[in-house]
This record gives sequence, C-alpha cells and structure tokens, in this order.
Amino acid sequence: MEFKSKIKTIEWIDNYSRMVDQTVVPYEYKFVNITTGEDMFQAIRNMIVRGAPAIGVAGAHGIVLFAQEGSEKYIDRSEFVKWLIDKAEYMKTSRPTAVNLMWAVNKQIDIIKNSKSDIKGIVEELKINAINLEDEDIEINKRIGDYGAAVVPKGAAILTHCNAGALATVGYGTALGVVRSAFAKDNTVKVFADETRPRQQGARITTFELAMDGIPVTLITDGMCSYFMKKGMIDMVVVGADRIAANGDTANKIGTYTVAIAAKYHNIPFYIAAPLSTIDISIKSGDEIPIEERSHDEVTHINGKRICAENVNIINPGFDVTPHELITGIITEKGILKPDYNKSIAEAFKL
Ligand code: MRU
Repeated sequence: MEFKSKIKTIEWIDNYSRMVDQTVVPYEYKFVNITTGEDMFQAIRNMIVRGAPAIGVAGAHGIVLFAQEGSEKYIDRSEFVKWLIDKAEYMKTSRPTAVNLMWAVNKQIDIIKNSKSDIKGIVEELKINAINLEDEDIEINKRIGDYGAAVVPKGAAILTHCNAGALATVGYGTALGVVRSAFAKDNTVKVFADETRPRQQGARITTFELAMDGIPVTLITDGMCSYFMKKGMIDMVVVGADRIAANGDTANKIGTYTVAIAAKYHNIPFYIAAPLSTIDISIKSGDEIPIEERSHDEVTHINGKRICAENVNIINPGFDVTPHELITGIITEKGILKPDYNKSIAEAFKL
C-alpha cells in the first residue's frame, strides 16, 4: 500500500507561488500567495516556508518571480541576464545553512547562463525547471521513505527532532517520509517528536502533520529524549538534514547533536534521511558549514510572551553539527549510505 500524504507545501500556480504559512501551524492551516522575488526572499528568511528541500524549491520559485519582474523592466537581453543573476545570488543569502537553497538556485542560474532563448523564453524555462523540482522532490522523498522503511523494526518507536516532514519538503517528507513508508507496511509503528525549541517545529508542525495522517505521535520536550531511551521506549532515531559534508558530518536543527550523543550512549541506531541535494561535497567536514544565528526573540519569547528576565545574554544558533561517527546511516534516494562516508558519499554521486 502506498501512503498518501495530504500536504503540498509549496506549488507554482500560473504566475505566482502558493505555500502553506508555517508560522501559524497548527493554530491555522492557511496558504499565502507569493508574487514577487523580494516577498519570496522574506518568506524564506522569516520561515513562512522552512525545511531544507522546501526552501530549495521556494528559492527556485523566487527566481521565476524575479525573472517575471525583470521581463517587464528590461528590453536588452544581456542587461536582463546580468540583473537576474544578481537577484539569484541575493536569493541564496536568505538563509545560510540549508544547502538545498543554493543547490536549487544554482540550477536556475545554470539555465539563465546557458539558455539560447529570448527574455520570455528564459522565464518559461525557469518556470518549467521550478515545477520539475517540485515533482522530483516528492518522488525522491518516496524513494528515501522506501529505503528507510526497510530498516525500521516491527512496531518501532521512532524518535525525530524538528520537522523533516511533508511541510519541510514539497510533500511526503524525508525523516517523516521514512515514517510514512514504514507505517504503510506496519501500522503499529509510532513516533516520538521532540518539541524542538526555540521555534517548536516538532510540537507545532511534526505533531500536526502526523495527526493529520493518522500516525500515532507522542510529543516530548527536548530534554526528555535520554530518559525515554534509557527506559527502552525508543527503537531508532530518524532526523532530516540541512547540509551534509563530504565526510558525513551533518548539520540539522539545533538539539540534533544532543539526541545523537544520547542515542550512541544507549546503543540506538541514529539515521539521517536526506536527498543527495543536501550533501555538499565541496566541503570536507562539518566545521565548514555556516550556522545561522537567529533573532534573540525566539529564545526570550514564546507566542509573544517573554519567558525570562530582561537583560540576559542570549545566543541562538539555529543548527548544530552531528559528527559522522554518531550516524548509523544516511538514507538517500540512492540507498542507505554507510560509513566510511567519504567513500559511500563519493560513490553515491557517481551513480
Ligand atoms: O529552521 P528550519 O525549520 O528550516 O529547520 C529545519 C530542519 O532542521 C530540518 O530538519 C531539515 O531542514 C530537514 S527538512 C527535510
């Protein structure tokens, strides 16, 4: 049986991008239409759309929006191309850690540079590529799901951190894609979701989408995972990724590293589920991954209410890097990569 997820996070419609507004989930499930390149930049930066593969597609949509605007503004093709490439470089700066954004925008830049078409034709080619990326993302996630499901034990309790689900992708999800595919084969599989402070993607988004799909989920706060691991209540961990270095070191939402250490201590398999577009083979190790520093309000406030004293020092890195030694396997659309990751990643890129 194939598991059908009901969510399509982001979609190109005629001449604009439509996306789920993830800042208000689960209080509201509403769509917003993004009609300009600058609005797309802000939507990515302010996390209306979030999750590595979803912001990749959003970035690609953003270039189509800029191209549409440029086509109204420029008659000279080479001026249009120069302006659009500058806008594409700008789009890549909307968030720094998830490499899928750079990957998808670079694909659009390749089209702009290599196209033989006139301005109108370039806009059309960019649109076709953006729509293809949407379809591909869902296909890739289903493949990740199927490879991952093969290593999920019967009736497993799967711990996840943040949201690497349908709402972090175009649909289906990476880590939650593994859950969906496993659940389709065995409906006794269940999920433990870390709350994921400061932005609570686990509490707000993971529980929302799993509940929507009827998959049992237990919400825990971030500090609880080792307690449940010790009690024997967690069988495996599956999380997503924002950027994976050539040696397998993996950046994911802040707190993931702590979960990985706890899993190692308790002898629990710890898997990353991610498309190959999340692997940045240009960097040797996680030390080179840029870590986003986000607004201090995310830590000092919950739902607009201050939760700490005034004048306290705040540091708010959005991601951490899990060293490759703690990772049991990286579940990709080309199969599960195992250590030595330098070798298995290089081989996957040749397939
Ligand atoms: O800051 P976010 O919500 O964009 O962070 C998302 C994550 O860390 C996800 O785990 C990651 O992007 C993988 S999504 C399939």
